[in-house]
Amino acid sequence: MQIGKKDWIFIGLVAIVLLVFFVISGKEKTKKVPLDDQHKPFYDIVQKQGKMEADKGCPACHNEQGGVPFPAKHPVKPKDGPMRCLFCHKLQQTK
Ligand code: HEC
Ligand code: HEC
Repeated sequence: MQIGKKDWIFIGLVAIVLLVFFVISGKEKTKKVPLDDQHKPFYDIVQKQGKMEADKGCPACHNEQGGVPFPAKHPVKPKDGPMRCLFCHKLQQTK
């Protein structure tokens, strides 16, 4: 098959779309869950029981009543209902 002019335009468009996609994903800078002693148990729970299960343990420390407070402009607060922390805060690469 010959690659004609139209094909190149198409390939160019695909390349641009991919580029934009990469730039956007690079801007994804929500803090990851630290890989420290306080959070390590959750890496296990996620592996064995899944993210939904792990999410339940976060408010034990992350709450507004004397725990680790949320930043003022945090998009959601625990009182908004079940919290899907790990939906936004990804785990770090473990190996
Ligand atoms: C045992 C208490 C405890 C539990 C449970 C806990 N955290 Fe934390 N977390 C902390 C403390 C203390 C800090 C602040 C110090 C630090 O960065 O480790 C923190 C910091 C963070 C940060 C900010 C990290 C940064 O780079 O500034 C994120 C995000 C976070 N926790 C997410 C979570 C999520 C998601 C869960 C549930 C899966 C969770 N934590 C469960 C104690 C806890
Ligand atoms: C809808 C997405 C979303 C959800 C759900 C979410 N967060 Fe966040 N969180 C953010 C964003 C955005 C920030 C501010 C940017 C940043 O610093 O990561 C933030 C910031 C934080 C910080 C402060 C990080 C720092 O040191 O600056 C902590 C701690 C934190 N979140 C914990 C949690 C915990 C615990 C849960 C679940 C109870 C949770 N978040 C659920 C989006 C989310």
